[in-house]
Amino acid sequence: LHRVGFVGWRGMVGSVLLQRMQQEGDFARIEPTFFSTSNSGAPAPKLSEGETGVLLDAYDLEALAALPMIVTAQGGDYTAAVHPQLRARGWDGLWIDAASTLRMAESSIIVLDPVNRDVIDAGLASGVKDFIGGNCTVSCMLMGLGGLFRNGLVDWATSMTYQAASGGGAKHMRELLSQFGEIHGAVASELADPASAILEIDRGVLAAQNSVDSTQFGATLAGSLIPWIDADLGNGQSKEEWKNDAETNKILGLSDAERVVMDGLCVRIGAMRTHSQALTIKLREDLSVAEIEGLLAADNEWATVVPNTKDATLKALTPVATSGTLSIPVGRIRKLEMGPEYISAFTIGDQLLWGAAEPLRRMVNIAIG
Ligand code: HSE
Repeated sequence: LHRVGFVGWRGMVGSVLLQRMQQEGDFARIEPTFFSTSNSGAPAPKLSEGETGVLLDAYDLEALAALPMIVTAQGGDYTAAVHPQLRARGWDGLWIDAASTLRMAESSIIVLDPVNRDVIDAGLASGVKDFIGGNCTVSCMLMGLGGLFRNGLVDWATSMTYQAASGGGAKHMRELLSQFGEIHGAVASELADPASAILEIDRGVLAAQNSVDSTQFGATLAGSLIPWIDADLGNGQSKEEWKNDAETNKILGLSDAERVVMDGLCVRIGAMRTHSQALTIKLREDLSVAEIEGLLAADNEWATVVPNTKDATLKALTPVATSGTLSIPVGRIRKLEMGPEYISAFTIGDQLLWGAAEPLRRMVNIAIG
């Protein structure tokens, strides 16, 4: 059995991670030690594989350093506080992390093995010890469009995102639902009366939208959208937008000469846990739509090409159709009017699965061998 420490397993990403690991039977090969930042000494979570003992203190460096592998979904502040101290005391175990803190460090690799198994294997062979999950939209986008990116066919792309509430965290999901509920409540009786005036209802909706609690998002999301995600970098770009280019190129392991230019706007919408991206792609070759679809479908077992028709799109290319699944539908593929090398694409992925937990789960298994 391989000893692995888990930190932040109770949060949203951590819970999905544990759930996936149990579904896949990963714990048959793992002897887990569970840590807590607040509740050490309490019983560890129950697994069907058997006893897991008590929670250890997530700030106990000695306990952490006794393990050859630590998986954390505790968040960036924890990583920033604990990881440097562990390394400073000579710990050379594997650190597998969902937080962005170490993502762009020289010494780390961003893990998304269906897309960059070669980069991961080379890193393991050369002694890399920090393996970090990528930004959720970047990971989901690359899973969907791997067939183009991995074959060096993308010259540049814009990725315009439609990101779900879960990207902000559990409190953000609750706030979105509370907003929907309050807004509905404000006009429920008029709505139930088919004879009521829709513009009257709309006035009531707007009044409610202007008064709902938006502490988490900073603006009303229900029935609206927020075209800014994460920090303001001061150059007109949001941090989420910056990650697109930086992480895509790092995941693919591209040299400066091979670099794919990526940019676009990142937008929060009222979906629950599933992110979407609309892409404009400038290809390096004039490929037919059939060739493009063939490459995308063949790239990995999760990317699923949705034919570019209204019926197929409404059935399979929505956040609701994708949520809770590992499938990455990719559709709306067509040649744009700008020329034969310009195509559109739309892809969707569950932000908690391929966007967060699944690449980490798979990295644990790759490391175990
Ligand atoms: N930054 C992402 C978002 C989530 O806010 O949607 C994590 O990658």
